[in-house]
Amino acid sequence: MTERQEHQLKAVVNAGELVTAHADAPKTGEALSDLGIIKGGAVVYRDDTIVAVGPTKEMLAAYKPEQIVDADGRLVMPGFVDPHTHLVHMGSRHEEYECKIAGKSYADLHKVGGIRYTVGMTRAAGEDELYEKALRDLDIMLLYGTTTVEAKSGYGLNKDSELKLLRVAKRLKETHPIELVSTFLGAHTVPEEFKDDKAGYVKLVREMMAEAAPLAEFCDAWCDSLGFSVEECREILNEAKKHGLKLKLHVEQTGWSGGGELAAEMQVASADHLDFLSRAGIEQMHKKGVIGVLLPGVTYHLMEFKKEIAIKDMIDGGLAIALATDYNPGTCRTQSMQAILETACRLYRLNYAQAINAATINAAYALDRGRSHGSLAPGKRADIAIFNCAEHGILINNFGINHVHSVIKSGRMVVENGQLLQASERARAGAGKG
Ligand code: NIG
Ligand code: FE
Repeated sequence: MTERQEHQLKAVVNAGELVTAHADAPKTGEALSDLGIIKGGAVVYRDDTIVAVGPTKEMLAAYKPEQIVDADGRLVMPGFVDPHTHLVHMGSRHEEYECKIAGKSYADLHKVGGIRYTVGMTRAAGEDELYEKALRDLDIMLLYGTTTVEAKSGYGLNKDSELKLLRVAKRLKETHPIELVSTFLGAHTVPEEFKDDKAGYVKLVREMMAEAAPLAEFCDAWCDSLGFSVEECREILNEAKKHGLKLKLHVEQTGWSGGGELAAEMQVASADHLDFLSRAGIEQMHKKGVIGVLLPGVTYHLMEFKKEIAIKDMIDGGLAIALATDYNPGTCRTQSMQAILETACRLYRLNYAQAINAATINAAYALDRGRSHGSLAPGKRADIAIFNCAEHGILINNFGINHVHSVIKSGRMVVENGQLLQASERARAGAGKG
C-alpha cells in the first residue's frame, strides 16, 4: 500500500441501520436499551480511526472520502468484542457433551476428565500446533464479525506450559488481524500432580507471575468450589497486581462462593459467569464499577439451570453487563458472538438492544477498552461489521446462520462478501477440525 492510499479518507455509507452503540461510560439501566441508531447512516474514517458518524447525505456533503464502501441498505455495527475466551488449547471434548446430554453434570466430569483432559492434550502440543489451531479459530471469529478477542492461558497449569500458551497468544496478536488481549489464568484449576497440595499450586501460580506478567495484560482466577477459594483468589490477584497486571475473575459459575463480593473488593475490570451472583454481589460490583460478563453459551451448554439467573436484578441494580462466548473445549464450543446474542435473548430475556450493547461497548469496557473500542464515534477505532440484513432485530431473530457481509478492522477491510481477504485457505483447511 502506498503512503497516499494509507492515509486516504474512507467511508461506509448507506447503512440500513447504523448502530453506533456509543456511550462515554458502560451502558446501564435505560441506556442499555438504546443503540444510538442512525437510519441511512455513514461512518467516515482515516487509517484506524473514525473521523465522523452521521446521516450519509450529511457525511458526503461534509467529507470527500476517496474510498467508499456502499452498505446498500445493510445493517452496520461496531465489530463484536469478545471479552472472555480460552482460545489457546488443544483437542476437543465433544464426548463430554454427549455425557451431559445423558445426565452427567459438569462437576461429575471434572473429576474424571474436564479441564485436566485438555491440560494433558495442551501440554503435549507444540507451540506451532497450538498457534495454527488458534489461528483457525480466530479466522472463524473474524468471519463472524468479532474484531477484538480476549484469550486466556489456563490449560498449561505448570510454568513451562503456561508460558508456552502466553507466547502463542503473543504471536497471534502480532500476526492475526483480530486484536488480541492476553490473560494469565494459571489459577484455572489444580493440576493432577498437585491434587493433594493445593497450597503448593497456589504458591506456584504466584511464582509464575514474574514471567507471565510481561506476556499478559490481565490475570484471572476461577473462584469456585471446583477452582479456588475466595482467599486463594485474593492471594493470587494481589500478587498479579504487584506485577502490574489488571484483574479479572471467573465467579459464581457452579454455585455461590462469594466471588462477586471479592470482585468488588479487588475492583477487578470484570467478573464473569455470574449464574449464582447474590444481591450483595450485584450491589457491591455496581458500586465498584465492575463489569458483569454473562456467558449464556455456558448456561445453555451445561443444562444445569437450578434457578433463574438474576438478570433483571442486575440490570435494575445498575450493573453494567457484557456478553462473551467463553469459547473453550469444555463449556461452550462456539466462536460466534452472533450465536451468543441469540442465546442471551432467549435464556436471559435481554431485549435486542441490551444484547448488542453488551456485546460491543460494554464488552469493550470489560477489557478496559471502552474509550477506544466497541462503538462507532469520532476518535474511536474503525472496527466495523456489515451484515446481510437491514435491521438489528433480524440479526438475532434469524439465528444459526452467519449474517456477516464484510468486516473492517482498524480501518482495513479484512472480510469482504463473507470471505476472509487474507488466509482464506487457512480458514477452509480448518473448517473440519477441532
Ligand atoms: O469458563 N470455569 C472454568 N473454565 C471454563 C471451562 C473450562 C473447561 O471446562 O475446559 C469456563 O467455563
Ligand atoms: Fe471461562
